[in-house]
Amino acid sequence: MNGDLPACGVRICGTGSYVPERRMTNEDFAKILDTSDEWIVQRTGIHERRICDPARESTFDMARTALERALECAEMKGSDLDLIIVGTVTPEMTCPSVAARVGAAVGAVPAAAFDVSAACCGFVYGINIAQGLIRAGMFRTIGVIGAENMSSIVDYTDRSVSILFGDAAGACILKRDPDPRIGCLYQRLGADGTGWHSLYLPRKQRDVPACDVDNPIRLGNIRMNGKEVFRFAVTKFREVLEEAMHHTNLTAESVGQVICHQSNLRIIEAARERLGLPREKVFINIDKYGNTSAGSVGLCLDELWRAGKIERERPFVMVAFGGGLTWASSVWRV
Ligand code: UT7
Repeated sequence: MNGDLPACGVRICGTGSYVPERRMTNEDFAKILDTSDEWIVQRTGIHERRICDPARESTFDMARTALERALECAEMKGSDLDLIIVGTVTPEMTCPSVAARVGAAVGAVPAAAFDVSAACCGFVYGINIAQGLIRAGMFRTIGVIGAENMSSIVDYTDRSVSILFGDAAGACILKRDPDPRIGCLYQRLGADGTGWHSLYLPRKQRDVPACDVDNPIRLGNIRMNGKEVFRFAVTKFREVLEEAMHHTNLTAESVGQVICHQSNLRIIEAARERLGLPREKVFINIDKYGNTSAGSVGLCLDELWRAGKIERERPFVMVAFGGGLTWASSVWRV
């Protein structure tokens, strides 16, 4: 924190989200691939996911609508924002950023804008960066969005990856607050690039590591070593969650909601059981939306926020892991 600035807090003023109308059920997959509803439910907890209609929806459209809904919830206008951050690995273009186009669409010009590439951690990375910038006195009001059009990078001829993912966006508005007790109590960002080839999206043949040259998934689509990511995730989720709770003196009794990136129900359940967290404190919506990468945590936050389940004074935790490999946690008091 800058020494010459009065200490401040960060308030979550509103949340929003967007999911496409189009549903893709496990039965739909069973019609095109050698898979079944039973296999998918048992191994992932997913029943259906939402898929963009490419003619009228993509990352930008979802991000924009999620942010508009968050602004409405916060009773603010786009012009109140001085920075927009979008976590995504599925931007329509690498230039301009999704954030800059969203800023123009909601009337946030000349707010600063940039995208964060941290795969499924994109939203939590964005929130942590944003709250740090607010506390440092650089920005007052920031829109953070996680938006992902996974269906645009999934090879639907391959059953090992395609069944996991869906499309969604989640957003929140963060604002400087005079009460320093409000806001992020603890945060963690991490990455281990040595494991990058467990989850990656090669554009050219030269991007493909020797260990994966026989992968039948087409270039331009996401590839994943499910078993490797599963092993990493089960350990990392627990570690990151334990560490966040330890640093904030939170216990299974005192913590509020624990919002986990919706990667796989088995991964979330393993962490929940290990930490002795009651079922009602660990929000699950993977059954309806699948794994929506950077969209996931923001979507969960919006559902909980609107249901009035984020309690005042009882800190809640967000935790994610993903391609990179990356991980992130963020503990908040509202
Ligand atoms: O957001 C972060 C991104 N990723 C993750 O969190 C993913 C982490 N990993 C996972 O969620 C799991 O590894 C998967 C759900 C992707 C796969 O589950 P698994 O229990 O690890 O299955 P597996 O890869 O060990 O495959 C077991 C069997 C194999 O058959 P054989 O070799 O035992 O005969 C696969 O070929 O299941 C087969 N299989 C399928 N069968 C029916 C793989 N995908 C499917 C499918 N339907 N969709």
